[in-house]
Amino acid sequence: MNMEDIIRHIRQYVSETPELGIILGSGLGDLAAQIEDPICVNYGDLPGFPVSTAPGHAGRFVFGRLCGKYVVCMQGRVHYYEGHPMEKVILPVRVMKRLGIRNLIVTNAAGGINTEFQVGDFMLIRDHINFMGVNPLIGKNDPDFGPRFCDMSYAYTPALRRLAKDTAEELDVILHEGVYLGCSGPSYETPAEIRAFRILGADAVGMSTVPEVIAASHCGLPVLAISLITNMAAGVLDVKLSEEEVLEIGARRADTMQKLVRSIITKL
Ligand code: HPA
Repeated sequence: MNMEDIIRHIRQYVSETPELGIILGSGLGDLAAQIEDPICVNYGDLPGFPVSTAPGHAGRFVFGRLCGKYVVCMQGRVHYYEGHPMEKVILPVRVMKRLGIRNLIVTNAAGGINTEFQVGDFMLIRDHINFMGVNPLIGKNDPDFGPRFCDMSYAYTPALRRLAKDTAEELDVILHEGVYLGCSGPSYETPAEIRAFRILGADAVGMSTVPEVIAASHCGLPVLAISLITNMAAGVLDVKLSEEEVLEIGARRADTMQKLVRSIITKL
């Protein structure tokens, strides 16, 4: 894995500097289809780049104009549960930082722990709990990106959260705010785990986002993250969890998520 090679490869195709990075979660990849004059760069063509195998994830960067801004969109992300080392999970964030982005928007699918949530609701992430059992910054620190001990006090940028809340209100979209707990997966959680996570202060649970946000904080990137509650977490309702439900709710709510994200981008 060589950052310079990756940047050089992308620069062969993309001359403009993206000002915004967007990471799209499961089933929410449609926003990339709305990018004007898109230039696609497949992860598989980038030296040393991890390739996503998760369903609903296309696995490429899409560069182009969206709501008047030049953006780079990750259509498909890589997850720790796919077996990639953490340094590869966060590599795309560092690549986008090196390409020049100044803000990062992250979306994901999550299970609702807070019983006031309903399937199909959106949750603005206020903070996270890292339950993945590992931190992506473990290992030699690269001071070109950030300090050894990275502050996480304002990882989910307050000004961007304010902007998202105001925008959701204007659009009449319900946007809860809460704490996202990241697990490694790939098994869903047990009902006992979900009860424990609720006591710990989690409102939603998922298998992504935490590593990327830690990497973004490390390199000083402001982050806005929104979860789509695709299902109630294990044991909240007396039903089994299914991947199909997650993807189906993602598809059903993709339009509203896009509307919300597009309005936020316009105001950035
Ligand atoms: N748990 C973990 N990850 C998820 C869930 C869940 O219930 N739903 C969507 N992603």
